[in-house]
Amino acid sequence: MRTALVAGNWKMNGSTDVVNELMDGLIAGLNSSGGVEVLVCPPSVYLSQVEVAAKNSLISVGAQNVSENGDGAFTGEISLTMLNDLKCEYVILGHSERRSLYAESDSVVAKKFIATVAAGIKPILCVGETLEEREQGKTLAVVERQLKAVIDAAGIENFSTAVIAYEPVWAIGTGKTATPAQAQDVHAAIRNMIAEYDANTASAMRILYGGSVNAANAAELFANEDVDGGLVGGASLKANDFIAICHAAGA
Ligand code: PGA
Repeated sequence: MRTALVAGNWKMNGSTDVVNELMDGLIAGLNSSGGVEVLVCPPSVYLSQVEVAAKNSLISVGAQNVSENGDGAFTGEISLTMLNDLKCEYVILGHSERRSLYAESDSVVAKKFIATVAAGIKPILCVGETLEEREQGKTLAVVERQLKAVIDAAGIENFSTAVIAYEPVWAIGTGKTATPAQAQDVHAAIRNMIAEYDANTASAMRILYGGSVNAANAAELFANEDVDGGLVGGASLKANDFIAICHAAGA
């Protein structure tokens, strides 16, 4: 039995006041989240603030990105040592915005994944196709390339704490969600790709859907057998919407 996970990706949004208000709202609304693990991933400058607010609550804290390098001369970067220092449990890796806007290649994502697992932090590995790739019938080939690049570099034995997030790029921040059937098809294919390496890892793997998940569409997406929760952007910035999505995943 896989425990559902709902992760809020706040992206580059927030302020000290906004973070306090959002955390107060989430903690008040999630006092009995039942059957779902809830995670928030704030901008790194607010990680400490969120850690303090989330203490003794049901909410876990994660980062949106991390350097593949150890501490040292890497101006502007954040290390896994620092994430451990702040008791970060998860880190999002290979988000499509990192891949497209900051040129993160499959091999850089793989290096980050390996370093993250070695540091004892759980990676949320994002994969997903662009609209053009979907229209050309390349969805599964793209997802397989992104996934295999990391499995082949890291070894399937390093996936026991990992989470996969399937995020079709055309659905991110567009209000255009994949249909439940489209999501289920790709999630099942991802589970089969992992099963080619190891069946137990595949059946235990949590595969989240991301891309315009909201309070209205969450339940039908999460009702699919291979959809184990969501990676939520825009709707994670509104406490009531995010709480409703968490409850949909726990139902
Ligand atoms: P969205 O973002 O929910 O705003 O589409 C999802 C994500 O990018 O993780």
